[in-house]
Amino acid sequence: MNAPMPVGCEKSASPPAASPGPTLPDDIQQAIARAKQDWESTADTLPHIVCLLDERRQAVRVNRVIEAWHLGRVNDVTGRDMHDLLHPGGCEQDCILGSLLGDAWIRMQSGASVEFETLDSRLDRVVSIALRPITGDAGGRRAAGHARAVMVVTDVTPLRVARAALEALNESLEARVHARTQELENAIRDLHNEIARRESAEDALRLSRNELELLSQQLIQAQERERRRIAQELHDSVGQSLSAIKYSLERAVELHRQGRHADTQPLLTRTVERVRDTLKEIRSIAMDLRPSVLDDLGVASALEWLCREFAETYTQIAVCSRISASDADIPQRLVTTIFRCAQELLNNVAKHAKAEQVTVALVRDANLVALIVSDDGVGLPSVDSSGSFGLGHGIRNLRERTQMTGGRLTLSGDQGCGTHARLDWLLTSNEHDP
Ligand SMILES: Nc1ncnc2c1ncn2[C@@H]1O[C@H](COP(=O)(O)OP(=O)(O)O)[C@@H](O)[C@H]1O
Ligand SMILES: [Mg+2]
Ligand SMILES: [Zn+2]
Repeated sequence: MNAPMPVGCEKSASPPAASPGPTLPDDIQQAIARAKQDWESTADTLPHIVCLLDERRQAVRVNRVIEAWHLGRVNDVTGRDMHDLLHPGGCEQDCILGSLLGDAWIRMQSGASVEFETLDSRLDRVVSIALRPITGDAGGRRAAGHARAVMVVTDVTPLRVARAALEALNESLEARVHARTQELENAIRDLHNEIARRESAEDALRLSRNELELLSQQLIQAQERERRRIAQELHDSVGQSLSAIKYSLERAVELHRQGRHADTQPLLTRTVERVRDTLKEIRSIAMDLRPSVLDDLGVASALEWLCREFAETYTQIAVCSRISASDADIPQRLVTTIFRCAQELLNNVAKHAKAEQVTVALVRDANLVALIVSDDGVGLPSVDSSGSFGLGHGIRNLRERTQMTGGRLTLSGDQGCGTHARLDWLLTSNEHDP
């Protein structure tokens, strides 16, 4: 459509735009009229407003779509400004469509086609408007009142609605994909956390299993050591003493048979002395073993017994026993541990402390059991670089036994100030006093 041809437009009442002139033969005029009719019917079937404009932006021809859009009758719109054509009856100064059309018209003057889209409230549609210049005839001539431009107005509302719906759909799809991705990422992160948690739990389990194995191994070793020690002690002390006593008694029998009564007397006296010593030794060994009173009565009674035995064995050390707890006060799970710990601590006092006095206390309050053994001896040797002192297994076993039963060992005592050992066990809720 680049010529002022009958672009399917109703001919206006004003003079025709391109009249073939009266000199043409009839048949050619008829052909032109037919062609015009064809174009008109073609233009009228288009869904767009098609409008030819002259150099003053005024409508030269418009197709019938203008009527379908209720913008006036095809025969009445000729001569109207292109803005007035779309907004009949005048407009305010700041009409957007008006200024868009003005801009487009100016841009089109340079020979370019201009197209824009706008939502127009008066038309109540989204319209796409295309302005295309119409160049002159072959000689570039342009007569006044001739069409200079074509304006095509298309209703793109359904397109816009569809596009908006598509965009909304796209957005919601993207949002859903985003949400799903987020969910997936969260799930993966949770999974990773769970794996890490399980791995660390497994590690901890492995570690504690190893520790348990080590502990039970040490316990078995300690038991074995203890048995060897008892066997050795029985052999070395009691066995030898009994051999000596047997020899002395045989000698006394022989002296008696020979009638040497004066020699028999001191020998028997020495032998009685020896028997007394041996009894002491046996007592001391027995003290290291588990007394039946522990099973028959309980740990409080067993500690009383242990203190008595200790006092009789080590007469130079005064024993002060402060057993305020009763047998029933101490949970069964702690009985052996408390007894063994008291044994070891008293043994240490006898072996290392050079003490004059030792105090043994067993106390129980609402949710706690404590064993305390303190002496007034030489005190503990200074702590070495490894944070421990001495080489004995005694203290280490004591600590392990205490920890395995959920207790805690506190050892204190500077050199020359005696030694204070305290073992505490917090009781579980079902062991609490009612
Ligand atoms: N009551 C105490 N008084 C002074 N020193 C002690 C006392 N108890 C322990 N010790 C010191 O702590 C060391 C470690 O004790 P322990 O582990 O029982 O081993 P052991 O009794 O076999 O030597 C002892 O060798 C001793 O030097
Ligand atoms: Mg010891
Ligand atoms: Zn307007």
